[in-house]
Amino acid sequence: MPLPAALIPGQPWTALAPMQDVTTLPFMRLLGKYGAPDLLFTEYFRVHGHSTLEKHIVDSICHHDTGRPIFGQLIGESLPDLERTVKAMEDAELPVAGIDLNMGCPAPKVYKKNVGGGLLREPSKVDEVLSCLRSAISGRFTVKMRIGFDSDQHFEAILDLIEKHDVDLLSLHARTVKEAYRSEVHYEYIKRAAERMACPVLANGNVTSVQKGQWVLDETKSAGLMIGRSCIRNPWIFRQHREHFAGEPVFQPTLGDVREYIEDLIVATSHTDRNGVYHINHMKKFLNFVGLGVDVDGKFLHEMRRAKSKDELDVICDRHLVNNGRAETPFPDEPIKGLVARPNCETSQGCSL
Ligand SMILES: Cc1cc2nc3c(=O)[nH]c(=O)nc-3n(C[C@H](O)[C@H](O)[C@H](O)COP(=O)(O)O)c2cc1C
Repeated sequence: MPLPAALIPGQPWTALAPMQDVTTLPFMRLLGKYGAPDLLFTEYFRVHGHSTLEKHIVDSICHHDTGRPIFGQLIGESLPDLERTVKAMEDAELPVAGIDLNMGCPAPKVYKKNVGGGLLREPSKVDEVLSCLRSAISGRFTVKMRIGFDSDQHFEAILDLIEKHDVDLLSLHARTVKEAYRSEVHYEYIKRAAERMACPVLANGNVTSVQKGQWVLDETKSAGLMIGRSCIRNPWIFRQHREHFAGEPVFQPTLGDVREYIEDLIVATSHTDRNGVYHINHMKKFLNFVGLGVDVDGKFLHEMRRAKSKDELDVICDRHLVNNGRAETPFPDEPIKGLVARPNCETSQGCSL
């Protein structure tokens, strides 16, 4: 089934990469305000013997209010449970544009259960899972995967299976599972997939700016771009791509705009279970990315990581983003070289957040 058109038909698609604990309902709504992507993907629904549809993900599907199509992602390998979950989604008439299978998660506790990126070790299992999902899903069926587990050994075989089971869209994060999040991205595999697959391919991995996005499109000839971490740093990135594709002037945020974005993030990350210092610590996970664009010495990152209250955070944000004429300073397009989002701290996703 063809994909829904981009917001401006004829432009390459932009898509929000699924990110657990990030692409929540409030964050999706926030992106709606700053310029929604053409397509959204949810955090994954875990699928196993006792799984149910997690309410917060269902809420993100039903209430994101961006006006853009959203795909619900599943992670799992048990065929009866995958089938049961698809049926539950269809019975509940969740307003999804399609159902996506996660074949990329690199967290050891995930891949050791043979789900997520773990599936890529065994093409025969991939065959079974794709066959099961293709027959269970009445609408669009999409896959998000990496190029392999610890090598590209099964890459072509898995592309064959994606063709065989009529997958409607492939999002390809061009690293192996073992390479996690920080290695070079091997864009040549996206080019290979885009040239040989009948379905559209979205290029994923380190699309950090409009310039980089255009380079990735030129290099890979993919049908669109899927963006994850860079939209935490720069929530205008989808709007900027759309403007660039249309040949219009591209919005250039200032540090003052970023200061306002941080206030919106405070609201988006607030939760009844997350008060005081817990809320501030949760915010720091997002600010680790925002801080990659603030100052070359990393002073903002250093200071904000030590904040213990909203008042302290406000003072630090004002010092680095507003005071002494900084509010008018352009926010750089690319992350500043040499700064790291968060060294030595990995989440359950096996990524630094
Ligand atoms: C915090 C975090 C959570 C993620 N959660 C998921 C997930 O639930 N499902 C998934 O397919 N990928 C997940 N990913 C991977 C991203 O979708 C994306 O493939 C990866 O970050 C590379 O894209 P980027 O360089 O634009 O961030 C996650 C990544 C991060 C950083």
